[in-house]
Amino acid sequence: MSLYKKHVFVCENLRDVASGRASCGSHQTAKLRKKLKEMVKAAGNGKQIRINAAGCLGQCSKGPAMVIYPQGIWYGNFGEEDLEEILQESILGDRVIDRFLIKDKME
Ligand code: FES
Repeated sequence: MSLYKKHVFVCENLRDVASGRASCGSHQTAKLRKKLKEMVKAAGNGKQIRINAAGCLGQCSKGPAMVIYPQGIWYGNFGEEDLEEILQESILGDRVIDRFLIKDKME
């Protein structure tokens, strides 16, 4: 039995620009994660749904990246304006939003 109904990991990995590699942290994912956490709490699901910061999820070029369990939905290329839709459809609901879906997870 799971401790949480849903568990969401948002990549906050931030690389130095000099590395030449993309990183989700450059998309302000710490701010996005905090906002999503507040939205979940405001929806009355703060104890059932966990929103956690993650290190690199291996999807750097498709970021910002998140994964939603237990469905195992991997999303990339989302912004603050998309959080409400992701919350309603895929976190509170179980529907997949195709335009954010990371289909090829090989970097
Ligand atoms: S830096 Fe976010 S997936 Fe790698």
